[in-house]
Amino acid sequence: MHRPQKFMLLVLSVGLAALGGFLAGCGKAPSSSSSADEGSARPAGKVFVIGMSQCNLGEPWRVQMNADIAAAARQHPDLKVVFKDAQNDTLQQRAHVEEFVSAKVDLLIVSPKEAAPLTEPVARAMDAGIPVIVLDRRLLGDKFTCFIGADNKKIGHAAGEWIKQTLGGKGNVVELEGLMTSTPGQDRHSGFREGIAGSQINVIFEADMKWLEPDARKEMESALSRFPKIDLVYAHNDPGAHGAYLAAQAAGREKEMKFVGIDALPQEGVAYVSQGILSATFQYPTGGAEAITTALKILAGEKVPQEITLGSRLFTKDNVAQGGQALN
Ligand code: FRU
Repeated sequence: MHRPQKFMLLVLSVGLAALGGFLAGCGKAPSSSSSADEGSARPAGKVFVIGMSQCNLGEPWRVQMNADIAAAARQHPDLKVVFKDAQNDTLQQRAHVEEFVSAKVDLLIVSPKEAAPLTEPVARAMDAGIPVIVLDRRLLGDKFTCFIGADNKKIGHAAGEWIKQTLGGKGNVVELEGLMTSTPGQDRHSGFREGIAGSQINVIFEADMKWLEPDARKEMESALSRFPKIDLVYAHNDPGAHGAYLAAQAAGREKEMKFVGIDALPQEGVAYVSQGILSATFQYPTGGAEAITTALKILAGEKVPQEITLGSRLFTKDNVAQGGQALN
């Protein structure tokens, strides 16, 4: 072969090899490999898929959590969040987590209904290399990437202190509990009992209303029929406090007692305080925005703390106009 011909062939083959490499590179970028180990890579053009398993959307607080997640994710075109709603069914939520693992999502956010049954599917997601952010309610053990939530024990304790002070250290209290197989219910209960310890406050009626307003209303009807003197109702969430208020109102007794709740959504608990329905509510932030900030760090290969604790605020009629007061 003549020299110029040889040279042309060389140029051609180098060119083809470069083109091949380029095409291979192009083909790779959009394919959404889900390996969590490639976190630090965050290749340009890749869209990361986040699976969000929500335990239910029955309460406004959970609708708000999903909205907060969606709003935060919208700021990042390289994130796509797929939501699943388990409709308060633990088995369905377990199945949802498994489905996200089979679909090889890049990261999971789980707000579990109950601690024990969701622990194992989340552990299996971790085994599959999918990082998991647990939001609001805890699991058992520590096999997850990061837990984000407010300190429920502290909120329960602050509620107990506030109630003790407001009632002058004595009185009859009804406690309407959140689902006691979920950790916020357990912590809001134990914190509250510590907060009223040593006082003459008697918890005359205690029932698990499972976070649900209709259940709270029903439980309160039986408390009202059994006890002629009730000074205050402490409910583990605002829907529960509102359900209790409606029961007392139907019995013509709502003015005899005070109502205290937790969540403090602007359109729910805070509005109830402004309207004089609740005497106090404690903020329980959804953590939705923080979950997305944390997800971005994990996907970029950064180390994040295993526990992120969010703050809370107390709202009463005296401070509601000023936006409440931070819990120390
Ligand atoms: C909503 C809710 C909130 C509560 C939280 C506790 O399902 O019941 O009202 O603060 O869950 O996990």
